[in-house]
Amino acid sequence: MNTVLNHPTADFWWQRTDLHYADNGDLTLAGHSLQMLATAHGTPSFFYNGDRVLAKLHTLLGALSATGLRHRVFYAMKANRFTPLLSMMRNSGLCGIDACSPAEVQHALACGFREEDISFTATSVSNEDLDILARLPAVLINCDSISTIRRLGQRCPGRRIGLRVNPGKGVGYGNNQLLQYSGRKTTKFGIYREHFAEACAEAQQHGMTIERIHFHVGIGYLAPQLPLWDEIVGDCTWFVDQLETVRSVNIGGGLGLPHVLTDSPLDLQHWSDILKKHFAPRNLEVCVEPGDFLVKDSGVLVLQVNTVERKQQVDFIGVNGGFNLALEPAFYRLPCEPTPCRLRPGATGKVTIAGNINEALDIWAEEVELPPMEEGDYLVFLNAGGYASAMSSNHCMRGQFYERLLFTADTSR
Ligand SMILES: Cc1ncc(COP(=O)(O)O)c(C=O)c1O
Repeated sequence: MNTVLNHPTADFWWQRTDLHYADNGDLTLAGHSLQMLATAHGTPSFFYNGDRVLAKLHTLLGALSATGLRHRVFYAMKANRFTPLLSMMRNSGLCGIDACSPAEVQHALACGFREEDISFTATSVSNEDLDILARLPAVLINCDSISTIRRLGQRCPGRRIGLRVNPGKGVGYGNNQLLQYSGRKTTKFGIYREHFAEACAEAQQHGMTIERIHFHVGIGYLAPQLPLWDEIVGDCTWFVDQLETVRSVNIGGGLGLPHVLTDSPLDLQHWSDILKKHFAPRNLEVCVEPGDFLVKDSGVLVLQVNTVERKQQVDFIGVNGGFNLALEPAFYRLPCEPTPCRLRPGATGKVTIAGNINEALDIWAEEVELPPMEEGDYLVFLNAGGYASAMSSNHCMRGQFYERLLFTADTSR
């Protein structure tokens, strides 16, 4: 129970040490009142807890260390490329970068990452992309098509490469098909078993050594998906076993986070046991390239309520930001968790939260239970640290926002 405002804390199942309501009813992130930050900087605003990102990195590295396998983490910067966040990661020395375009590679270099700390895995790669990569010989490239192998080979004969493979099975949050990168339906990602020999022959023709197998089979998997993930990792060892030159396996990203009360968090012990089972006998280095797992629940988006109005039987709350600032709920039907910046006393009610974009699908959440909200109040959207600002667009020319990396020890506003 929130002692001052009488709200049952069970309503806020996601509360944790660095993200919770203070006794005065203000939601705090890393010890900072989001109400005060929103008032000082305006909205839309993204705030990220840098301490939490580093803590998650340490947790992941701890799980990998427990396997006894050589390992590396490459942060998937497509999840969030905010410069202070990347610089913080670089300064930590704990991870490299997974980049999926030459511009991301350049951004990683500008943030201080070395070429050899950058892993590049992209799709539909152009000759212009390859010309840039050819000038960066230490970047670790994973080719996801035979065409890429051929055109990279023409530019950099003899280069050591990785192959992104497609095991034909996928996994994702809540078994959502939209979140799977490989599955029953043929996808654009990676090289299938039936084309693997041809891919290897193409690499050989250019004197290229395949030293890595890479796969990324979906996003947001949690504890219930681990048995399927285990099976898929097992299937991927087929590719590894075809080549004596493979030294390393990159298992992609996709590690998920709970989005609703009933989600079971990813069991990292179980996850690392699966890695150990498959890769320890093969003496391989294991690389992982998480995006969401490191940043998503460290970040929030704060918007301001500008409209509180009943239309027929529906109580609408209109806010000053739309799906163009955080696409996942609309695109992937991922749950969205809105909560007031400052709690008002009073009974909760069911509301529909609408954005400010003139598109029918610009609805944040329907029929969600919220404490009372008034025009001028701020509303916080949780889990906005990944694939929100990074995927934002300027649709309706409403794409502007403020971003800030917070630390518990930083007392400035
Ligand atoms: C190749 C690759 N690696 C890593 C990631 C990061 O995924 P996640 O943020 O779910 O960990 C992605 C996401 O699309 C990806 O395509």
